[in-house]
Amino acid sequence: MNDIEETRQIAESLEGWLYPREGPKLYELAKACRAGVIVEIGSWKGKSTVWLARGALAGAAPPIYAIDPHQGSESGQPTFDAFQRNLAAAGVAESVTPVISTSAAAAADFALPIGLLFIDGDHSVEAVEDDLRSWAPQIVDGGVLAAHDASLSELAVHGPRRALRSWAVGNRDFGDLQVAGTIVYATRGASGRNSLGRLAALSVAEGLRVHPSQPACDAAFVVRHFLRR
Ligand SMILES: C[S@@+](CC[C@H](N)C(=O)[O-])C[C@H]1O[C@@H](n2cnc3c(N)ncnc32)[C@H](O)[C@@H]1O
Repeated sequence: MNDIEETRQIAESLEGWLYPREGPKLYELAKACRAGVIVEIGSWKGKSTVWLARGALAGAAPPIYAIDPHQGSESGQPTFDAFQRNLAAAGVAESVTPVISTSAAAAADFALPIGLLFIDGDHSVEAVEDDLRSWAPQIVDGGVLAAHDASLSELAVHGPRRALRSWAVGNRDFGDLQVAGTIVYATRGASGRNSLGRLAALSVAEGLRVHPSQPACDAAFVVRHFLRR
């Protein structure tokens, strides 16, 4: 069994919010990270952290900082114990530095160059905009910014969707806009202008892959909300 399949088996037993195509994409992005550290904003019980950490170990093994206040905003229960347990069971506890903090407080003290930033914390528009403003400038040339729940698909979430659309479309610093599941990602310094049409087309294509049984609904959602004036 290859490492992605083994990681899938481990991650499937963990609670969390990732569509099937998203974990392997995080793995691939982490494996490709050659310069700078990996920062994750919003770990909950560590499902995405496990994918990132196993991918990083398959590549250049950059350090990973996993930022989350662990107050249980999704479930009402603190999540740090489960997070630690899940990372240990996946064999990646040593590669990850947990930062028990909000994104804003952590950003104020963080000065390391970032090779991969994964945003999945507070999903309000304002919070995602703050994450983008605070963390994106620290991403190195060739580094990647990725955000969960941010495609234009109905499967995504209003806050990240709106914040990422504004950030990505027309962005001159980050290019080669891509979508995997609901994750939107772009690379600092890559060529190719990001456009709303490209984001919409990629979002529809990914929506079809996630939910092949409801293609028309999702495509109609993207057209109705983002393309029709
Ligand atoms: C949707 S969950 C993350 C899911 C996780 N990435 C996974 O794969 O299962 C959102 C997480 O963001 C955290 N969070 C909420 N507000 C935050 C903030 N201001 N800064 C950092 N993390 C935050 C919550 O505690 C929660 O664990």
